[in-house]
Amino acid sequence: MLYLDTHAGAGTYDLLSPEALKIEEHKQGVLKVWNRDDVPAVAQPYIDLLKRMNPSGTLSLYPGSPWIAHHILDENDRLILNELHPSDMPLLTDLAHPFRNMRVFRQDGLLAVNALLPPPEKRALIFIDPSYEIKSDYETVAQAVIKAHKKFSNGVYAIWYPLLKSGIQNNLLDKFKDSGINHQFIIECKANVDKEARMYGSGMLIINPPYQVDTQIKEAVKWLQKVI
Ligand SMILES: C[S@@+](CC[C@H](N)C(=O)[O-])C[C@H]1O[C@@H](n2cnc3c(N)ncnc32)[C@H](O)[C@@H]1O
Repeated sequence: MLYLDTHAGAGTYDLLSPEALKIEEHKQGVLKVWNRDDVPAVAQPYIDLLKRMNPSGTLSLYPGSPWIAHHILDENDRLILNELHPSDMPLLTDLAHPFRNMRVFRQDGLLAVNALLPPPEKRALIFIDPSYEIKSDYETVAQAVIKAHKKFSNGVYAIWYPLLKSGIQNNLLDKFKDSGINHQFIIECKANVDKEARMYGSGMLIINPPYQVDTQIKEAVKWLQKVI
């Protein structure tokens, strides 16, 4: 199969770097989950990956989507990683360098979606994890995926979006509601946040979720909401 990551990031993140220590974002998230003794079976593979990445027992490295995909897939699968940020590129390139089936491109991931689909493999997960820094990104992402789906309707498309109090994420969700695309699954994970916080959680829209993935994600999110 093809794994196409449109916004790949750096691949791995050093939680002890000066930048990470300044905001210590992980204390509100991954640090709360990684040493729990009530992890549901469905979330255990993710925790196992975290432990594999941090064998000393101290959580100092955090896996990005390319690292996770690489450790789940095998050498017959193809990974295409797109990233624009110049400082993320060297880390991502180092991660991919030893592997023939992993390729990194410094290009707009949404344009790549249009250029690379349908894939010769006929099976693909298109993982879309933008930062939505520009307001119009919500519409742009939806338009790109709806267009790609017309070319390749069997692909699994997983689109992350933030839950913002402003409700701007509805610009993305409304476009999908009106798209006529079948087999859409939406899951949202809400956290208890301060009054002043702009963001109160994360959402994921999955087109063509594989069999039972919806039930499994619901179970994982139910636990996650309790923990964070
Ligand atoms: C939320 S981060 C992605 C994180 C990554 N998926 C992970 O799990 O670590 C968004 C990334 O998209 C990159 N980016 C922004 N616009 C892009 C574009 N049009 N094409 C490709 N990458 C882009 C940013 O530099 C940033 O690294």
